Amino acid sequence: MVLSPEDVRRRGHPVWAEVDLGALRHNIQTLRAIAGAAEVMGVVKGYAYGHGNPVCAATMLEAGASRLGVARVAEALHLRDAGITSPIHVFTEPPYEAAPAVVSADLVSAVYTRDFAAALSEAAGAAGTVARVHVKIDTGMHRVGVPAEEVLQAIGEISALPHLDIEGAWSHLAVADVPDHPFTRKQMDLFDDVVGKIERSGIELRYKHIANSAATLTLPESHRDMVRVGVAAYGLWPGSALRGMADLRPVLSLKARVNMVKSVGAGEGVSYGLGYQLPKEGSVITVPCGYADGYDRGLSGRGDVLVHGRRFKVSGAVCMDQFMVDVGDEDVATGEVVTLLGADADDRITAEEIAENIGTINYEVTARIPSRVPRVYVG
Ligand SMILES: Cc1ncc(COP(=O)(O)O)c(C=O)c1O
Repeated sequence: MVLSPEDVRRRGHPVWAEVDLGALRHNIQTLRAIAGAAEVMGVVKGYAYGHGNPVCAATMLEAGASRLGVARVAEALHLRDAGITSPIHVFTEPPYEAAPAVVSADLVSAVYTRDFAAALSEAAGAAGTVARVHVKIDTGMHRVGVPAEEVLQAIGEISALPHLDIEGAWSHLAVADVPDHPFTRKQMDLFDDVVGKIERSGIELRYKHIANSAATLTLPESHRDMVRVGVAAYGLWPGSALRGMADLRPVLSLKARVNMVKSVGAGEGVSYGLGYQLPKEGSVITVPCGYADGYDRGLSGRGDVLVHGRRFKVSGAVCMDQFMVDVGDEDVATGEVVTLLGADADDRITAEEIAENIGTINYEVTARIPSRVPRVYVG
């Protein structure tokens, strides 16, 4: 359900994620320009990295992405149910039982095992159609894919299946976020070598793709026929060395409304464990957002929030649904907006800042925001 800011208030949601579709469109257009002749796949797995589907998927398509990428069949079916008709790639083979669903929703599945390819071919045959597949090649990350040295045999077996169309071959880079890493070159060389062998065996590959956001930004020679952009589309940086490399705008903000303000005396403790003691009497606000909203408990006593454009630190432990902030003498009223992620006046809390604070990556900061936090689309 798409909620307006008024709906959010009326329904009593104390915390919400504001998703700026104008920024998302801008980022896709920027990435399209960088990708040149290559097509752009919008990677929208993980509920569009927490930004929300189907709205983000549809916005990316409007802005110039030609395909979408998800991790799981259920994610693709959610998009189909919402009326999205573009090609949707599923990055991992699902359990065999899902092969008929892949066929009936006309998904483009990754294949890398003979057994799944056979199940998919059988399901396509039963439906009187042909399933488009992209063969995933493991060029060194060792997550999923046909091991590079086994590709010719695997392709022989897969291409012998009667109801599959091998439309493409692809791989995934393990360290593209580190500029000039020699392993990226090694993976690309191996990919070229394997693709050459497949093509020499008589299979025409219409799509070859290996670039993620980092490679899209730093390695034009990786673009091939299509780039698969996730994190950069959301205005997040794929790695610390890549910050500011392109004109990308953060898409998601996390905001909450103060639900209580009280005066607390000097030396009093705050939250579980009483881990924060007020140095002097001050105003303590309660922010109705906790770790069940994706606001990491590691931000206890460490994270900053913005109130009236000023930074304040989380005071004591983040609870499941709330945390407290000693705002000192600042005059804050119940119902005022606190920005936990995003901009207020001239300052901005970035996903990168939060990630550094808790020892993770920006991807996780947005992707873990659960469904109880409504997404509000603006722009
Ligand atoms: C197979 C695949 N391709 C592309 C991407 C997009 O990566 P990024 O978000 O770094 O652009 C991902 C995300 O992890 C992925 O798993």
